[in-house]
Amino acid sequence: MTNYSTFASDAFSGRSVLVTGAASGMGLETARAFLSKGAEVVLADRDADGLQRARGELSGKVHTVTVDVGQPDSIEKMFEYCDSNLARLDNLVCCAAVITAKKIPDQDWAHWERVMSINLLGTFFTAKGAISRMLTNENGGNIVCVASDVAYHGGGGLIADTAYAASKAGTLSMVKSIGRELAGKNVRINALNPGPTDSPMHSHIDPALKERIAANLPMRRMGRPDDMAAAIMFLCSEAAEFVYGSALDVDGGSSFR
Ligand SMILES: NC(=O)c1ccc[n+]([C@@H]2O[C@H](COP(=O)([O-])OP(=O)(O)OC[C@H]3O[C@@H](n4cnc5c(N)ncnc54)[C@H](O)[C@@H]3O)[C@@H](O)[C@H]2O)c1
Repeated sequence: MTNYSTFASDAFSGRSVLVTGAASGMGLETARAFLSKGAEVVLADRDADGLQRARGELSGKVHTVTVDVGQPDSIEKMFEYCDSNLARLDNLVCCAAVITAKKIPDQDWAHWERVMSINLLGTFFTAKGAISRMLTNENGGNIVCVASDVAYHGGGGLIADTAYAASKAGTLSMVKSIGRELAGKNVRINALNPGPTDSPMHSHIDPALKERIAANLPMRRMGRPDDMAAAIMFLCSEAAEFVYGSALDVDGGSSFR
């Protein structure tokens, strides 16, 4: 039983979804969720082996494409793949990101460039590629950009750092700006703010620290990838028709601690 099992099995039948960061964690679970509801899904990631593994375990209308969202040419190639293989692009979910946890003295210029180019520029230019296609769709489209609760709280260098938190705060602002510019154009864009989620992104974290993080959350557990997949599915569904330019916190209550 997953949190998205409440959606009808044909809820996204006839719809396509491009998911970046889909070789792992919430991107992979989001791809699995949409496939289970009848969608045609393109999994995009820079981890070619991870994509291969995902392809082996998923069933349905699955595509995989390697992309480095920190490289504009690579993003362009990903969309060329979509143009050649999908009738049209209906939904985009931007999950691809790197998490970093360095203290300020260890954050140099190259560190900030890397984090910003993948997490913020990568998300913007992926959204831009989708927008140009969705604007020509009769039914428009939906975009979900995954940000983070640290966009509000900041990152102290323990599990997330300044550069990462700033990239996610930038993502929230970017979603608002895109939403303003696309007003009335039938392309909805929203952000998702996950709280601490037990995914491979945190595989390096000591289990005792994870327990402490969970104990401090009002819900007394860390998030699961299917919590995020369900919320992303909601944002892409007709049930969210009036949800626009918003940031949905799915964080077990971390945002009101
Ligand atoms: N796990 C958490 O606690 C948490 C909390 C808040 C927000 N988030 C955000 O959720 C999203 C998904 O995170 P996750 O926990 O599933 O992490 P994850 O590490 O399991 O997955 C991230 C995926 O992004 C891919 N990726 C990284 N750099 C890339 C690049 N340049 N081009 C293409 N793909 C790239 C990785 O290969 C990986 O498959 C991220 O945006 C992350 O910042 C995670």
